[in-house]
Amino acid sequence: MVSNSLIATNQCHTAIIAAPIHVSHLLSDKNDKLWDGRFTEATDAFVESFTASIEFDQVLALYDIEGSIAHATMLASVGVLTDNELGQIREGLKVIGDEIRTDQFKWSVALEDIHMNVEKALTDRIGEVGKKLHTGRSRNDQVATDIRLYLRDMIDQVCTGIRRTQEGILNLAAGETETIMPGFTHLQVAQPISFAHHLMAWFEMIERDHARFLDCRKRVNTLPLGAAALAGTTYPIDRQMTAELLGFDSVSENSLDAVSDRDFAIEFCADASLLLMHLSRWAEEMILWTSPQFGFIELPDRFCTGSSIMPQKKNPDVPELVRGKTGRVFGSLMSLLTLMKGQPLAYNKDNQEDKEPLFDTVNTVLGCLTAFADMIPAIMPQRDAMRAATLKGYATATDLADYLVKKGLPFRDAHDVVGKLVAQGIESGLDLSELPLDQLTSASNLIEQDVFDVLTLEGSLSARDHIGGTAPGQVTDAIARARKRIS
Ligand code: ARG
Repeated sequence: MVSNSLIATNQCHTAIIAAPIHVSHLLSDKNDKLWDGRFTEATDAFVESFTASIEFDQVLALYDIEGSIAHATMLASVGVLTDNELGQIREGLKVIGDEIRTDQFKWSVALEDIHMNVEKALTDRIGEVGKKLHTGRSRNDQVATDIRLYLRDMIDQVCTGIRRTQEGILNLAAGETETIMPGFTHLQVAQPISFAHHLMAWFEMIERDHARFLDCRKRVNTLPLGAAALAGTTYPIDRQMTAELLGFDSVSENSLDAVSDRDFAIEFCADASLLLMHLSRWAEEMILWTSPQFGFIELPDRFCTGSSIMPQKKNPDVPELVRGKTGRVFGSLMSLLTLMKGQPLAYNKDNQEDKEPLFDTVNTVLGCLTAFADMIPAIMPQRDAMRAATLKGYATATDLADYLVKKGLPFRDAHDVVGKLVAQGIESGLDLSELPLDQLTSASNLIEQDVFDVLTLEGSLSARDHIGGTAPGQVTDAIARARKRIS
């Protein structure tokens, strides 16, 4: 969305950074800033580009306009602006909004940030009245408002992305409650589970993420406007009205806090980090499972890429990238925490650095969710490979130990008996269910013919028949409850 003029300026900015910073610039006369009344010389050319944020805070443009219209509406209702002035300001801002939406707006680095780009455009368009818009506010409460409006919208999009991903999981899981795969601990075969049960673990992880984002939204959705620079304003403002116009649930209680803290953005990045941590875990499993060594799932070609040298390759690039992008989200969280740490009250220019990590986190999270929401329903389970892998790792050993316990043997002794049988199985290359009955009974005379019921994969699965267990009926119920929870 960066216009050509801005790209040109950025190239120039890069060139300046590449040159030694102590090179002094010839200073011209005052340079027509919105704030330069007390200044006697123009801003240093390097400082101008170094302090500008317009390159990245354009993202806030439409929120800035929405906030300004609400502010002007409130000013008119308390008599600080006339209705006629409000009408001109509103119309002017709407036209500017249209220009921005259709990419016709000319951004200026000299005007530093989104707020002054929009305000200057308004004055250029409607004349003197435009200069009244900034009455009773500061860029400090303005930017805090813009970020909150933006983030509230983005949280809603993230929540939609999570829900879409969850629906994909539920639809896939519904057909896999009897698909048996090995459950792992230490990445060693542990016990049989259903593929659906495994998928539902993913569902639960991101359900908690969804709840965290909704909770974060509550703290985002409060109005800073009215705090002005830091201490409030001398005009008879009606903050409640502005809050209602902008859909905020409350107004901030303290003006210094309102303009200075970015804890809500940090909180969002912390929630995003947990979400990406979860996505990276599934990504890792998908990467493992698509390898021939596992072969548990296949991904459609449209989610994979090939190798420029090895003709046989079909690489799971999408999950790999999601796993990789987790790093930048964790990095943004650290950036924002470090940015905020030790800042004295109230607003400091440091806070301009909140934007890129926050925007990057939002874009990364939305991208990863889109990738997963599209990819999950397209997963092709390879049921035979899952079953074969379950039969390989003595996955029903715990079931045999539980069988002996139910016949009266203390668990520790049962563990030992089964361990010895597993060793015999390894020796002869047989699964527990394939050992002859007399070999089993010679390990413990408590073992009888009915042992084979618990040694089958299906028996093992259906025996774990309680809420949270892997028995097919339980997982079917869990899926039904999950559908209700997200509807
Ligand atoms: N671009 C600034 C930011 O992002 C806006 C606030 C500027 N306030 C100031 N007092 N210089 O933080």
